[in-house]
Amino acid sequence: MIYRFIILLIILCAALTACAAPERVTIGVLLPEGYRENFVQYARVDREDATIRELYVHPDTLEQVRAGRVLADGTIIVIEAYHAQIDDQGEPILDSEARFVKGIPIEKVHVIEKRPDWTAADFTSDTRTTGAGNWNFGSYQFDSNARFDEDLNACFHCHNATPETDFVYTYPLLLTFARTGEVQYFYCDIAGRIACEL
Ligand code: HEC
Repeated sequence: MIYRFIILLIILCAALTACAAPERVTIGVLLPEGYRENFVQYARVDREDATIRELYVHPDTLEQVRAGRVLADGTIIVIEAYHAQIDDQGEPILDSEARFVKGIPIEKVHVIEKRPDWTAADFTSDTRTTGAGNWNFGSYQFDSNARFDEDLNACFHCHNATPETDFVYTYPLLLTFARTGEVQYFYCDIAGRIACEL
């Protein structure tokens, strides 16, 4: 009888230990909840194809950047995009500062996240950031926050071109925002996602 009790106790302990063990649930890059409220917009990039992009970062990252540190593990940056409003002649409408006026959102929101403990399951792509870059990429639908189905290899291919700023294209804008608190405005006269010199 006592043996049965001990065996039961062992099974119970094992089960409890398994439950208590920290489970790593993150698969891939998640879209940070409420990023428009909880993150800070540091830059806006307008492009000649009448698109507007707004970039957000967590306040903790700004503190680190202000303190002169490199982008730490845990850094998350979100970029969302909009079409500019177009007038009857098909030209983008400009505001008093000669900037585009935000129209309807573009369906995907892109996220980049740095962490040291990614597992193979966290990647849907074969490509990785080069060198010591612990970055992973995610794409989400604008409205539902559900994953947007696109090939994430393209993200790595493009961002791998900028290792000198830790794979973050807008790092110079982030630095200036961290110093000045002014949302950085940048106009790029190339369409699509081809990088402009910052
Ligand atoms: C063709 C090149 C290209 C591809 C492909 C690309 N990006 Fe980017 N990405 C850029 C450029 C350039 C910027 C800077 C903003 C701008 O100029 O529009 C940027 C900016 C970003 C930013 C803001 C941080 C930063 O690097 O400045 C995030 C987040 C981001 N991209 C995520 C993604 C994700 C996720 C994917 C894939 C789903 C992706 N990107 C694919 C070129 C690319």
